[in-house]
Amino acid sequence: MPPLKCLISAGPTREWIDPVRFISNPSSGKMGYALAKEARDMGFEVCLVSGPVELPKPIGIEMVDVESALDMKRAIDEKFSFYDWVIMAAAVCDHRSESSSKIKLPKEHFPENLSMTRNPDILKDLGKKKSKSQLLVGFAAETHMVLESARKKLKQKNLDWIVANDVSKTNQGFSSDQNAVTLISSNGLEKQIYLADKSIVAKEILHAIHLSWLEKAH
Ligand code: C5P
Repeated sequence: MPPLKCLISAGPTREWIDPVRFISNPSSGKMGYALAKEARDMGFEVCLVSGPVELPKPIGIEMVDVESALDMKRAIDEKFSFYDWVIMAAAVCDHRSESSSKIKLPKEHFPENLSMTRNPDILKDLGKKKSKSQLLVGFAAETHMVLESARKKLKQKNLDWIVANDVSKTNQGFSSDQNAVTLISSNGLEKQIYLADKSIVAKEILHAIHLSWLEKAH
C-alpha cells in the first residue's frame, strides 16, 4: 500500500504593510511541526506549508515556506488534490492591509486608521471542494466558549475533525511547548487530550484520527 499523504500547515502568516511593518500573531508553529514530525514517524508522506517560524526544518518532510495568507492559500490549493489528509494548524491572519507599500512609509505618512480587507478562509474553501476520500482537520484557537465555537466551525467549514485549543491560558497553546486540546469529530466523538508536550499531543491527535480512518475504511 502506498503511504498515506498528509498536507499540514503551521505557524503564523505575515501581512505586510510596508517593508518594515507587518500584522501577525504569536503562533510559534510548534504544534504544526510536531504534527508533521509525528505523521512522518507514522510512515506518512508529509508536506509542511509553513509560515515564518524559528524552528529547525524537520528531516524527511517536504517543506514549502510562505509568508502571507494569500501565499499560503496558493501553496495549499496547488497541493490539496494530491493529499489524503489535510491538517490546517496554521494561525492564518484573518485580515491584511488593503494596500502594502514597496517602500517604507515615513511615520508622517503612516495612516492613522489602517484600511483592512478580509483574507480568504483557506480551510473553508477546502471544505467546499474536498472529495469523499479526503480528510480535513482544522484548529480552533479560542479564548472563550472554546468547545461551542469549535463545534460551530467544524460544521461551518465542513471538516471531519477540529482541534479545540484554549489559548487564554499561558501554559498551553500559541508559543508554549505544551498544549491541552479537545479533539472533536463530525460524528460527534469528543476526546480530551490533557496538558502535555506538543509532541505527545500530536501523537494522540494523529493516532485517534488514524484509528477512526482505518475503522471507516473497513
Ligand atoms: O475561523 P478560525 O480562524 O477560528 O478558524 C481556524 C481554522 O481555520 C484553522 O484551522 C486555520 O488554519 C483555518 N483558517 C484558514 N484561513 C483563514 C483563517 C483560518 O484556513 N483565513
